[in-house]
Parts: sequence; structure tokens; C-alpha cells
Amino acid sequence: MLFDQRPKDNKRDLYDAEDELKALASALRAGAPLVTIVGLRRTGKTSLLLTALNQTAQPSIVLDMRALASKPYATKRDLIQEIERTLNEFYKAHLSSGKRLFNWLKRVQGVSVSQSGLSISWGGKEPTELSTLFDELNAWAKHEKTRMIIAFDEAQELKKVAGVDMAKLIAHVYDYCRSITVILTGSAVGLLYDFIGSQDAKAPLYGRHITEIRLRRLSERIARDFLVRGFEQAKTKTDERIMDAAVKRLGGIIGWLTLFGITSVEAGKMSESAIDQTVEVGKSLVRQEFENFLKGREVGRQRYEAIMRHLARARSSSWSAIKGSLEAAEGRTINDRNVTELLTNLVKAGFVEKEGEYYTLTDQMLAESFR
Ligand SMILES: Nc1ncnc2c1ncn2[C@@H]1O[C@H](COP(=O)(O)OP(=O)(O)OP(=O)(O)O)[C@@H](O)[C@H]1O
Ligand SMILES: [Mg+2]
Repeated sequence: MLFDQRPKDNKRDLYDAEDELKALASALRAGAPLVTIVGLRRTGKTSLLLTALNQTAQPSIVLDMRALASKPYATKRDLIQEIERTLNEFYKAHLSSGKRLFNWLKRVQGVSVSQSGLSISWGGKEPTELSTLFDELNAWAKHEKTRMIIAFDEAQELKKVAGVDMAKLIAHVYDYCRSITVILTGSAVGLLYDFIGSQDAKAPLYGRHITEIRLRRLSERIARDFLVRGFEQAKTKTDERIMDAAVKRLGGIIGWLTLFGITSVEAGKMSESAIDQTVEVGKSLVRQEFENFLKGREVGRQRYEAIMRHLARARSSSWSAIKGSLEAAEGRTINDRNVTELLTNLVKAGFVEKEGEYYTLTDQMLAESFR
């Protein structure tokens, strides 16, 4: 079903992502060492990832880092527990290769296998070295004559894992683990690239080739077509006027369109109120994400919020108009560097985008929430 809230994991349900799916599948086939799937929130990154993994025979695990988004920091324990969870899931889904994998990993220091599954220690006398664990996953994949795919969903959150240099670990895997493909997805694209340091000459991953797959908003025409097909599939009558209004108000973000579809189908018909309900849910979600962004940035809160409010009203604004609005709000001069830094962080986190000389909010739900 197109109107299903969960991330899609099947090509049949994945609308208009054929090219991206092909690109990802071919990178996996070619054994690319590092692939990123980037795009704004709710544009279908997880759906694309799961669908591609479903199509390949290669063994894979998906580490969900989103759980860390609401935390100011995380620990090695959080990461190890997530690895443990996904390996146990892999075992359940692929019993025979799962058994072989567990037998292989048993010999890694800190890893034990019992009736209840695989367990990995994060501390104590025998802490597991993550690089050793990845080396062994690599050795196992090589032994199996395949390549293992290790995906980190919302990988920019890995930056928060204290005491583990994830960027260095990923660089290690890139250089030495030829039988592993790492996939990183990220909605805060700039933060993701900052974290892996692909643009930073001093960072371990600098200069490595990365295959990037970028998901975009749907155009009005495509968004409308998505709705038409979804409603057709759900056998629910459509109303041209309401459909146009939905596309205008929700924008081209497929996650919001999906939510609108589900809300309408549940109510048995399309209505203005389904648009309102979608916007209400959307507003609170994006607001929560913005709050997560502010964690660790509390000193800048008022200015960040003032920029968001200004952009919500102005729709599109230049650097100097934004600076002017901040100064007017505070009644004092603000230094140029500070304005640029605030804007850069908002752009890196995917809340604001810059086109030419103008800044805009990336999602109409953000605009609705700050208006
Ligand atoms: N190509 C697609 N066809 C149909 N539905 C889609 C497609 N892409 C995403 N969706 C729907 O949109 C919503 C968001 O999708 P998904 O979780 O995959 O996006 P995401 O980019 O990973 O989001 P987030 O930034 O929240 O992690 C889900 O309800 C999903 O079912
Ligand atoms: Mg996702």
C-alpha cells in the first residue's frame, strides 16, 4: 500500500524512486565501500534503504541511530546494544547463515552466544573492541564469499557517541574491510558530512570516494499523482479541489502526503479537516526535531527561533534581511560572523536551505509551526 505509515520495504510500494533504487542497487553490486543516502526529513531515506536491502541476497544489518536523536549524548553501551539487537534480529531472520555468523563471532573477545542469543560486552574486564568486531564481520563475509552491508540510519547521531571515534572506525572499515559496505543515511546532511569529515583534510575519511544518493521533494505534479494513485489503491473517492489544497499546503514531502492519505482513508473521504490534522501532527513532529537540534545549543536558542520565525513570515529572505530582523528584535548590533554561523548550522541540520542569495525553510510544516 502506498498509504502506509511505516517505511516501505518493497519495490511495489515505493513510489517514484526507481532511479535512486537502481543507483543504490548498483553501488551494492559493485561493492562500493561507503554509500550515503541523504535528503530532508520524511523524503523516504529509510524506505529506499530497506527496499534495496530486501532486494539483495547480501547479508545486512540496519542500526537505528534515531533513538539517539533526543539525547544530548550517547555511550558505547547504546551503540553496542544496538549492534547486538540487529545481529540477533539477523539470526532470527536467516537461521542457517545466522548460526554460522554467531559461531564465527564467538571467538571475538567480549562476545558470547547462549540460548538467549548473542551478547556483546561494552565494558568490564573484556570489553569488545568495535574495530575487532567489524574486522570479524568482514572476515566472516569474506569466508562466506559475500559482502556484508552495515547501515546506520540517521548516522549524524553517531557523533554523540562518547568515547568511540566513529568517523575513525568507518575510515578503518573503508580501508581494511573490503567485504563490508557501509551505508549512512542522514536528514541533517551537512551535519552528516561534518561528522564523517569528508571535506576536512585532517579527518580520517577525507578524500575517500563516497557514493551519494540524494532524495528530493516531489514536484506539485508528481505529488498530486502520488495522491491519485494512493487513493485509487485505497478505493477512496478523491476531490480535485481538496487534493490541490493538500499539495499546496503540505508541499512535496512524501511523508506528509502519505499521512494525509492515511488520515483521509481512515475517515472514509478526503476533507479539509484531514489536511488540518496532517498539519497538526506535522507541526508537532518538526517542532520536536527542532528542539532536538537545540539540545547542546541552548545559548543560541532565542536567535535560532527568531530566524525561524522571520523565515516563516518572510518565506524567503537574504542574509542581510535576516541579520536586520535579529538586530531589530534584540535592539542591538550582532556581529556578522555570528549571523553566518547560526544560518550555517540551520542549513547543515536541514531546517533551512539556501538558493542563490536567499534562505528559505525546507518544510512547510516548519513554516506553519513558527508562524
Ligand atoms: N517512495 C515512497 N513511496 C511511498 N511512500 C513513501 C516513499 N518514501 C517514503 N514514503 C512514506 O513516507 C514516510 C516517510 O518515509 P521514510 O521513513 O522512509 O523517510 P525518511 O526520509 O527515512 O524519514 P525520516 O527523516 O523521518 O527518517 C513513511 O510513511 C513512508 O511510508
Ligand atoms: Mg528514516
